[in-house]
Amino acid sequence: MTDSLRFCSTKSKGVRPRDGLQNETAAIPTAMKIAFIDALSATGVDEIEVTAFVSSHWVPQLSDGEAVLRGISRRQGVVYSALVPNERGLDRAFEARVDKIAVFTAASETFNQKNINTSITGSLQRFKPVIRRAREAGLTVRGYVSAAFWCAFEGRIAPEAVVDVVSRLTDLGAHEVSISDTVGRASPQEVSGLLARLLPRLPADRIALHFHDTYQRAVENVLTGWQAGIRTFDASVGGLGGCPYAPGATGNVATEAVVKALAAEGIASGVNLEKLAKARRLLDPFLMDELRTMPAADSKACESCEYARGEACCR
Ligand code: HMG
Ligand code: MG
Repeated sequence: MTDSLRFCSTKSKGVRPRDGLQNETAAIPTAMKIAFIDALSATGVDEIEVTAFVSSHWVPQLSDGEAVLRGISRRQGVVYSALVPNERGLDRAFEARVDKIAVFTAASETFNQKNINTSITGSLQRFKPVIRRAREAGLTVRGYVSAAFWCAFEGRIAPEAVVDVVSRLTDLGAHEVSISDTVGRASPQEVSGLLARLLPRLPADRIALHFHDTYQRAVENVLTGWQAGIRTFDASVGGLGGCPYAPGATGNVATEAVVKALAAEGIASGVNLEKLAKARRLLDPFLMDELRTMPAADSKACESCEYARGEACCR
């Protein structure tokens, strides 16, 4: 599961199981997903992106979204959200009683076509009634902008293209946008350059940053975002996940690494690393070998969280 770890001032905001599990090939039983989300709810985060109400032909791993949302124990103060690609997805999200939805488009035409089978303009037309109805029902709406820096198919993406999609999403009524480095290749300079263009147009508290960690710059990018005033960062326990339509990309930045990097800067997230490790351990038997965060053979595992001493360990 991908977690979306959000930080507001010094308070942690959320964790997201959706991005992390959508890329898994092993069938993870619904009961196990429920146990995992319940464990995440206890970590101190206050937002969890539980699932995606997308086509099960496209992402079969998340076809049990309704059952998962029915089965979890909702913790007061935690926001439970889901991805929604169209009105059908919104109806399912209403039925499942989510607190928040996320529509998703991209700054790359090719990626968008591969991910949701339509152009950028086509996706925004689809979102118009989705966002209107969600807002009328009192739900918060996030809009993802994928391939905001680099695209697996088109290469470098112009910042102007991102600014354009962001303003079209906010014009439609999205409360928050999540600027997404889908392929995990952005540099801190690219992050600060894009934020310098976005921040005069949209306040920092309406911008989230979503970094995959393919080139292992995601933690630096989070810190760059923090310095620019952003307080909402998406992350996933153990760095799980990836997008099935972004070949070569690895998972989101590990929640544990973000918590530790912020702590090193004196910023308390309120997220308990030992509880995160417990949640992650629930999934270990089901995950693809290469995505497991296991202690390296030559390193000593931490006695509390069982990670190798290093980035993801709770110490
Ligand atoms: P389509 O094939 O163009 O749509 O897919 P369609 O309307 O022709 O429907 C095809 C089939 O899907 C039909 O079923 C529909 O009923 C069904 P059939 O009649 O053939 O049996 N269908 C649905 N079923 C359940 N719920 C729905 C739904 N909609 C249609 N909501 C569609 C268009 C958008 C549906 C498809 O492309 C899709 O589901 N894509 C999802 C892709 C996806 O989930 N990608 C990963 C998430 S995005 C991501 O990871 C990036 C992010 O993390 C940020 C970043 O890192 O960049 C957010
Ligand atoms: Mg993602």
